[in-house]
Amino acid sequence: MSDSERARDQTLIGQSDAFLELLEHISLVAPLVKPVLVIGERGTGKELIGARLHYLSERWDGPFFKLNCAAISEELLESELFGHAQGAFTGATKSRVGRFEAADGGTLFLDELASMSLRLQEKLLRVIEYGEYDRVGETRTRTVDVRIIGAANVDLPAMAARGAFREDLLDRLSFDVITLPPLRARQDDILPLAEHFAEGMVKQLRREYFPGFSASAERTMLDYAWPGNVRELKNVVERAVYRAHPSRAVASIEFDPFQSPWRPQGVVPGLAEREQGGDAPATPAQTEQISYPYDLREYLAAEEQHRLEQALAAHQHHQGKTAEALGLSYDQLRGLLRKYGE
Ligand SMILES: Nc1ncnc2c1ncn2[C@@H]1O[C@H](COP(=O)(O)OP(=O)(O)O)[C@@H](O)[C@H]1O
Ligand SMILES: [Mg+2]
Repeated sequence: MSDSERARDQTLIGQSDAFLELLEHISLVAPLVKPVLVIGERGTGKELIGARLHYLSERWDGPFFKLNCAAISEELLESELFGHAQGAFTGATKSRVGRFEAADGGTLFLDELASMSLRLQEKLLRVIEYGEYDRVGETRTRTVDVRIIGAANVDLPAMAARGAFREDLLDRLSFDVITLPPLRARQDDILPLAEHFAEGMVKQLRREYFPGFSASAERTMLDYAWPGNVRELKNVVERAVYRAHPSRAVASIEFDPFQSPWRPQGVVPGLAEREQGGDAPATPAQTEQISYPYDLREYLAAEEQHRLEQALAAHQHHQGKTAEALGLSYDQLRGLLRKYGE
């Protein structure tokens, strides 16, 4: 990526009142060397806002690192964050500098903070509070000066109330909280964003110009709820542009790229074997006396939600581990969490 492409990538587009208020809030809090939490649904622009907070601070020319706390195991995350000594664990053939050390004098953006284990949360609190940490497998205390920006798409105070997130860490992190409104709550941003992504795609395709959207395409985009927010809009627009005739207004907007008469319906690898294995745990419905009628779907949804909560609690809300424990892919688990508003 060239510098100008990166600059373009950082451009924040939006003109809704909610978005303009957000920008003001960001300029206000950016210069302070205090932790900030950025809360919002997936795809609302949390990472972009994190970068903006860094580049508007006096640390702008210092290091800026991003780390997703849900993407890797607890052990790996610990050594990513704090580094490790040579021989600290099997496979640690060399010592390693962690992100905290590398981000000294700069900013560290911690995405999906809610999936961090309680143990790592404690280490995080220590480094925020006292600037102190140890590399994994070392006893020598090191010091560092890093501004933390945390991001989450869940209700952290509710998690803290249930004991799934440390209250003291939450207090420390939430000096200020920036909550990003979902795209459906900022209608006025939809078309400017669509235009922006369309122009970007036109450049990428080396076409001469962007012929615009048809009125009905604009209507379609304005009427849609955008559950995946700006990320989804970007995908939808880029797909629509590249499929469209280079010199005719883009008229066809398709939201679901999987849509096809040949889509494999309900085929999920792994499910069939488990069902055939016959060792699936008995559900209460199989053993209870049942009184009819009852709403099967409602019952199953409640059961699903209950099992999900149990499994999350059993795995300290680590989504990767919970997904594994339930035989789900990470994306499937995320889908369920969204369904139940976790
Ligand atoms: N206001 C905005 N202007 C331009 N691009 C945006 C804006 N908000 C989000 N994006 C783009 O949408 C995508 C998702 O944003 P990201 O920050 O990764 O969201 P999140 O971290 O909340 O899931 C990225 O490609 C980002 O560049
Ligand atoms: Mg993100």
